[in-house]
Amino acid sequence: MSASPKKPLLIVFGAGGHGRVAADAAMASGAFSRVVASDRNAATWGGELLPGVPVLSPQVAAALPGPRAVHVAIGDNPMRRDEAARLASVGPLATIVHPSASVAASARIQPGCLITAQCVVGPMAELGIGVIVNHGAVVDHDCRIGAWAHVAPGARLGGAVQVDEAALVGAGSTVLRNLRVGAGSTLGAGAVLLQDLPDGEAWAGVPARPLERACA
Ligand SMILES: CC(C)(COP(=O)(O)OP(=O)(O)OC[C@H]1O[C@@H](n2cnc3c(N)ncnc32)[C@H](O)[C@@H]1OP(=O)(O)O)[C@@H](O)C(=O)NCCC(=O)NCCS
Repeated sequence: MSASPKKPLLIVFGAGGHGRVAADAAMASGAFSRVVASDRNAATWGGELLPGVPVLSPQVAAALPGPRAVHVAIGDNPMRRDEAARLASVGPLATIVHPSASVAASARIQPGCLITAQCVVGPMAELGIGVIVNHGAVVDHDCRIGAWAHVAPGARLGGAVQVDEAALVGAGSTVLRNLRVGAGSTLGAGAVLLQDLPDGEAWAGVPARPLERACA
């Protein structure tokens, strides 16, 4: 009988509110031997991110003995991507799944993702590297979420929606099935998207329109 592999230590980089969410989900998952946080401003924190989760300087965290894995807990999408590249030598990127999330067995999930409490990721959905599916969000069947995108709390994506790289789907918004949210775009909180949102634009409102028109 072969011994089961040792669970890795998890280092959560980013000791802010999003770091708290990631560390909480990581501890609840039971997938890690221990969870610590790290932040450039560790000296000013002087304590714990959560009970039992110390905040260490990056130097101290990077010197912890292995096996270890890394999760970059930064809500800003481009910053999360850049920090992950910088930390590549510290350890492999870990995906964290809160045990209350419902993730279909056929969903394909790349490293570095965070799937938090009460989320649904439907059958054949695909999450690229570093994607956040935040509290209570729904990513329905056959959706494709590009690397470093963020589906914010309570957002709902209908079937086969495509969210491109580093886009933000705002809290409580709804995207109808088969639509696309372009790379680097933002869909505002509470919006209802009824047509494709092009790359690099911010849309808001019900129905969603480019921000300047949504506010006219
Ligand atoms: C849409 C959004 C990107 C606009 O941000 P911004 O460019 O900083 O815009 P401002 O806050 O300066 O607001 C500009 C105008 O848009 C309006 N507006 C802002 N957000 C809006 C929204 N979600 N829906 C409708 N109108 C909105 C403002 O009322 C303002 O209108 P006015 O010019 O008539 O006063 C932002 O408000 C938003 O919804 N981001 C998503 C946040 C989110 O869900 N984050 C996830 C956290 S986990």
